[in-house]
Amino acid sequence: MAEQDTKVTAAYSGNEEVYPPSDSFRSKAHVASMEEYEEMWQRSVDDPESFWREKADRIDWFEPFETVKNVSYEPRNVSIKWYEEGVLNACYNAVDRHLDERADQTAFIYEPNDPNTEEAQHITYAELHENVCKFANILKKNGVKKGDRVTIYLPMIPAAAYAMLACARIGAPHSVVFAGFSPDSLSDRILDCESTFLITADEGVRATKTVPLKENADQALEKCPDVETVLVVQRTGGDIDWTEGRDIWYHEELSTVDAECECEPMNAEDPLFILYTSGSTGKPKGVLHTTGGYCVFTSLTHEYVFDYHEGDVFWCTADVGWITGHSYIVYGPLINGATQVFFEGTPTYPDASRLWDVVDKHDVNIFYTAPTAIRALMRQGDEYVEKTDRSSLRVLGTVGEPINPEAWRWYYNKVGNGKCPIVDTWWQTETGGIMITPLPGAVAQKPGAASKPFFGIQPEVVDNAGNIQEGACEGVLTIADSWPGQMRTVYKNHERFQNTYFSQFPGKYFTGDGCRRDEDGYYWITGRVDDVLNVSGHRIGTAELESALVAHDQVAEAAVVGFPHEVKGQGIYAYVTLLKDVDPSEELRDELVQYVREHIGPIAKPDFIQFTPSLPKTRSGKIMRRIIRKIAAGEFDDLGDTSTLADPGVVEELIDERKGMS
Ligand code: PRX
Repeated sequence: MAEQDTKVTAAYSGNEEVYPPSDSFRSKAHVASMEEYEEMWQRSVDDPESFWREKADRIDWFEPFETVKNVSYEPRNVSIKWYEEGVLNACYNAVDRHLDERADQTAFIYEPNDPNTEEAQHITYAELHENVCKFANILKKNGVKKGDRVTIYLPMIPAAAYAMLACARIGAPHSVVFAGFSPDSLSDRILDCESTFLITADEGVRATKTVPLKENADQALEKCPDVETVLVVQRTGGDIDWTEGRDIWYHEELSTVDAECECEPMNAEDPLFILYTSGSTGKPKGVLHTTGGYCVFTSLTHEYVFDYHEGDVFWCTADVGWITGHSYIVYGPLINGATQVFFEGTPTYPDASRLWDVVDKHDVNIFYTAPTAIRALMRQGDEYVEKTDRSSLRVLGTVGEPINPEAWRWYYNKVGNGKCPIVDTWWQTETGGIMITPLPGAVAQKPGAASKPFFGIQPEVVDNAGNIQEGACEGVLTIADSWPGQMRTVYKNHERFQNTYFSQFPGKYFTGDGCRRDEDGYYWITGRVDDVLNVSGHRIGTAELESALVAHDQVAEAAVVGFPHEVKGQGIYAYVTLLKDVDPSEELRDELVQYVREHIGPIAKPDFIQFTPSLPKTRSGKIMRRIIRKIAAGEFDDLGDTSTLADPGVVEELIDERKGMS
């Protein structure tokens, strides 16, 4: 351990480990002390109007705004507007405005799946501009107009970023669907946002496998008769089916369009994109983000949270199919004119040194990944890290789920050699950007704590009745006021938006997460308080999993819960009751696992299926999830009150079956 690791300053209470930023880091940091952070944070919440007015200067506006903020959290009348008279274009901010000064600077270093057969490619801002303009012209030529929703189902190839930026350029909101999702998940999302234009690839590549994207898209489109055009990017050249009159090749279209395309002037509150995410009930909801506030918030958080400086090489390992890829691969860093690694590969291919090899190959300074990747690599052994250099690294980050202190320490000591602060960033698809995090030059880190609110963010911990908790406490995390990157609505369902986020605790945004605040005012996220699972940092609603299972013709009932999983954080545990005349079998178990995989996608694959003749229910027929969660976790001793169960004997049976499985 480096010397500064063990330094615990007297300002912090308790016995926890505390890792203050080193003097050398602080000497170059944007925010260099706790006092400075606290002073800025206080100002940002005392006078949000002036704070956010000033910060809006960082982006280019075609027409200025007058009103900074116009927000109502009134539960039946939620309305969120930022910079509402302003006119701008997100693509202009991410690309065009850099051309004078950084045309020849690399925007993306595309690092392909297989380093042994394919070379990395440097794409400059000028090349990015040309590619995006051409892409936008292809969209226009094929009938896409301002306001049309375009669905993007692509692997991590540069065309995915071109497609998103091209949509932003012409004012067509994009809906990116993660390429790991199944045909059913894709068709649900296309139908919900009524998109008539789909962009996909022939195949994706992941480690040694190919992913049949066009085939999945063809299958999805059987249910989407309104899709008129499918633009296909060639990635592998593999064989695919072709529908004449509907399918068009990107590379063929490219030669028919020119390389200039005006940016559409957009109102600050015009939609920029829709991104579907799982909730505790029903189908995934279309989280809608708008233009002005999102550009300000993502670029500001990118600069401060990662202590990004001109010339840094930034690498966020996320996929553009998730919010992390939207905010910290495409919009935030590009608006700041950054150079970034754009990674198609996986952490363990060709071997478990891959991430660190890429860090060395491209001299990465800031590295941002998910705890699940860290845990998976930690299990492979230190030698894969130790044989690499990593001396270019300056800041490390994590996102998506709580990081356990053991993984944190490994990341800190092994990957960062004890010299890089770790920013544990808590945020959500809905928040648009990072909300709670230690600023690396200012806030001492505690392993496992998301720490302190970003500027303008006012967390409030409440009890179940909504009473605000003071000082050190534990409860539900809410946010007291709006911030510019906040989602504006659920696409076509404002009612669901209000009910999901603003009805539980009137006047506050409900995050769905539990948290603890310690004596030093640090926030520790304890996980979801609703029926949403977090599997390898991916959100999956138990309701979605349950409806996939009961769709199988031999299943009568299903209840899904999470259980602690060493690598994934949470695993998926399904209790399944079969129809009366169906016998449980290993074959049926495998078939059900496969069935869920096919209906939602590989990330939703159950880890365990327990067949059970019945489930513990209250007398009113409600499944007691608290109990089945404990049984799934193997915690049989402390099941709490079971007296309200309709048939308490069910619990004993479940426990016996569970014991028989492990
Ligand atoms: O439970 C929290 C967890 O991930 C949820 C948001 O998931 P999603 O919308 O998919 O966005 C993930 C990437 C921003 C949250 O409600 N979560 C996210 N970051 C953290 C976290 N839990 C603990 N610590 C974090 N740093």
